[in-house]
This record gives sequence, structure tokens and C-alpha cells, in this order.
Amino acid sequence: MSATALSTITASPIAGALGAEISGVRLSEHLTDDVIAEIRQALLQYQVIFFRDQKLTLEQQIAFGERFGPLETHDFVEGMPDYPQVIRVVREADETTLNFGGAWHADVTHQECPAMGSILYGHDVPPVGGDTLFSNQYLAYDTLSSGMKRMLDGMIAVHSARGPFGPEGRSKDNWKNMRVNTSDKAYDEMEHPVIRTHPETGRKMLFVNKTFTIRFKDMTEQESAPLLNYLFQHASHERFTCRFRWTPGSVAFWDNRAVLHYALNDYTGHRREMYRVAISGDRPY
Ligand SMILES: [Fe+2]
Repeated sequence: MSATALSTITASPIAGALGAEISGVRLSEHLTDDVIAEIRQALLQYQVIFFRDQKLTLEQQIAFGERFGPLETHDFVEGMPDYPQVIRVVREADETTLNFGGAWHADVTHQECPAMGSILYGHDVPPVGGDTLFSNQYLAYDTLSSGMKRMLDGMIAVHSARGPFGPEGRSKDNWKNMRVNTSDKAYDEMEHPVIRTHPETGRKMLFVNKTFTIRFKDMTEQESAPLLNYLFQHASHERFTCRFRWTPGSVAFWDNRAVLHYALNDYTGHRREMYRVAISGDRPY
């Protein structure tokens, strides 16, 4: 892929499968509708886009996010004081446990309408490590065999937040400096199609992830596990991925319908503080 010059921004791919760095835009300013439309076009084309050297206040990050749709609050992670729609993703230098987002996942697929996209701002990034990986789920679908596609096409998966956010979930021993509220609500179950159609591009994608997908509908967890594990592994194959190296003031904006992401846990001894907003999405079909 070579760089795409839109009329005011330029998108430069960072990998073969997905991801592009956008230049020519300052997100702290009020952007015209035309520029927002170009950013949306780049997001749909590359699935995840990155901006460097931005200086964003929480208000400015919120204002930018709202240009793409209403922002949502998280069911289990408290937002910032005065800014409930902003989650502070923080890991202090002395933490040695699991990091937040440290597994392949899409955000909040336990919800009836999972987020359309998430925008993460690098406020305090470690000097080494802490990269984020993304994986293109159009390619994950496209590369399945015709027989597997046929079988999965009509299948429904059950999603739940119990793994990370149930009373016995991973937040119990991790993420000590984030404000996570576990509750029995995490045991609620939500059904989504295993193969999802993107509402804007019309393309099909694989739509399961290890953090939230617990089984197939009308099957036990034991029966579901072998095929789900195969799909989790397939979905994150390196040929579908890109890797983003954070620098201070970087912004990542991913299409949460079309990618999985993974926050690498390889910067123990350093602090990392990021701010995230999530844009409301629609019901998968
Ligand atoms: Fe995430």
C-alpha cells in the first residue's frame, strides 16, 4: 500500500494489512466537516489510523470524538472526574501484574451495541515498550476456507464481560490504579453473529474475541472451545496485524467493528498513562 493523499490529509500505511499514520491535521482545533469526512474515509480504508505529536486536553479529545458520534461510558470502568466518558488507562512503574487490554480483544462486545470506535491518546508513554498491536478482521474472514465460512455464517456467539469484570474476574488482582467496579452485571450474556457485516463498507468480518466471547449459542463452553480457540488464534495471525509504537502525544483511532487490538505488557519499570473515549456503535448483524 502506498500513501493516500486526500484533499487535506495524507495517510501513510504502517504495515501491509492495516493501519496508517495521518499527517496534515491538528486534532486540538475545530476541524471542518470535510476534514472529518476524510478522517472517517481513512478509518474505513485502513481500519486503524494514527496521529503524531498532538497536544490534546480532555475537552479537545471529547470534542474530536463527538464528531464521529455520541460517546459512551464504560459499564465497569469509572471515567475521569467531571469527564465520565473518558477512561484513564494507567499502569504505574511499580506494577508487575497484568496490564489493561493485555489480550486480543475488541472493546465492550458484551454490550448489545459495541463501540463503533475508540480513540486512545498517549499522555505519558514509556520510553521503551507499551506498543499496541491491531489485527484486521476482514482479512481474518477472507482467509478462512469456503467450508468454514459457510459453517460460521449462520452461527451466533455468546459474549459476556465476566472474564475481565466479574466479581471473580481478572480485575480482582490487576489494574490496581484504575477505577474498576466489578458487579454481577458482568454475568449478563449478549448474542452476536460470528460473522458480522460492516455497516459502512458492507464487507464481512470475523467477530469473536478471547476476552468477551464465551461460547457458541446452543452449545456448551466445552463444545465451543476447540473451534473458538482456533478462531482466536487465526484472528490474530501476524499477517493480519500492524504494530504501533507510541510517542508522547500520539493518538490511535481504531474501527472497533473491524479490528482486534492488544496492549503489550513489556514495559515494567516504566509508567504509562493513556486516555480513551469510545464512540457508540450499532447492533451487529
Ligand atoms: Fe481495548
